[in-house]
Amino acid sequence: MTVKVAGLGVELDRRPILTGVDLHVPEGSWTAVIGPNGAGKSTLLRAVLGLLDGVGSVTVAGRDLRALKARDRARLVAYAPQNPELPPGMSVFDYTLLGRAPYIPYLGRESVRDRTIASDVLERLHLTSFAGRDLAHLSGGERQRVVLARALAQQSPVLVLDEPTTALDIGHQQQVMELIDALRLADGLTIVTTLHDLTLAGQYADALVLLAQGRVAAAGTPAEVLTRATIARHFAANVRVTTGAGGRPVLSLERPC
Ligand SMILES: Nc1ncnc2c1ncn2[C@@H]1O[C@H](COP(=O)(O)OP(=O)(O)O)[C@@H](O)[C@H]1O
Ligand SMILES: [Mg+2]
Repeated sequence: MTVKVAGLGVELDRRPILTGVDLHVPEGSWTAVIGPNGAGKSTLLRAVLGLLDGVGSVTVAGRDLRALKARDRARLVAYAPQNPELPPGMSVFDYTLLGRAPYIPYLGRESVRDRTIASDVLERLHLTSFAGRDLAHLSGGERQRVVLARALAQQSPVLVLDEPTTALDIGHQQQVMELIDALRLADGLTIVTTLHDLTLAGQYADALVLLAQGRVAAAGTPAEVLTRATIARHFAANVRVTTGAGGRPVLSLERPC
């Protein structure tokens, strides 16, 4: 399902946070939103979810999510927030099962199928041995994968992930990115993520949107956006850009001399 944002403006606490933002994510593609801290990336994702009021339009498959009930919205878009609150005392399995809530009838119980889906997702994220663990007793990286598990269990056609790899070691980063990409290819999911790691963003995303101070400062293919000049300008970082597999850019920090 295509995600479209046009002329989006959002104010929080009477401060403009996003201004004139356009975003077009074709069905089955992956767009990564990048930008320095505080640029408005998380706010943009929350607007895509239909969780914020603002000017301009936000649609998923042509529908305005703000007009939908939470349950209907959740069947279209799954969201893994950057800093989710995890209810202490709940097990990893039960939390993952919450992803099935949009399909469980009111006052009903989850079905065998719902439980199977939750188990499968935990297995794909190598979390099976954590299923019975209390959420309060997880490491940062484990928490992050559990939040992703819940979002994947939702089986929505659009996945919105806010920095899904930030707390992960390099092996789990690769595993999570490969899993998301495999789901995109197999099921035609549309993916919108923010990503902190620019090389990782360039390796997996079809398109990058660089936000700076709430505006789109650059958009295009990874090679178009991840240039030395653009990174210097918007991140105040000195990087070297080389070309990696598939012509995708690879960034490394260079110490100023
Ligand atoms: N609920 C809020 N109320 C007021 N300001 C907010 C709120 N949430 C975020 N902001 C501000 O909006 C700006 C963008 O935040 P955010 O979207 O989280 O940036 P990013 O994800 O790019 O780091 C920041 O200056 C932040 O302080
Ligand atoms: Mg953020």
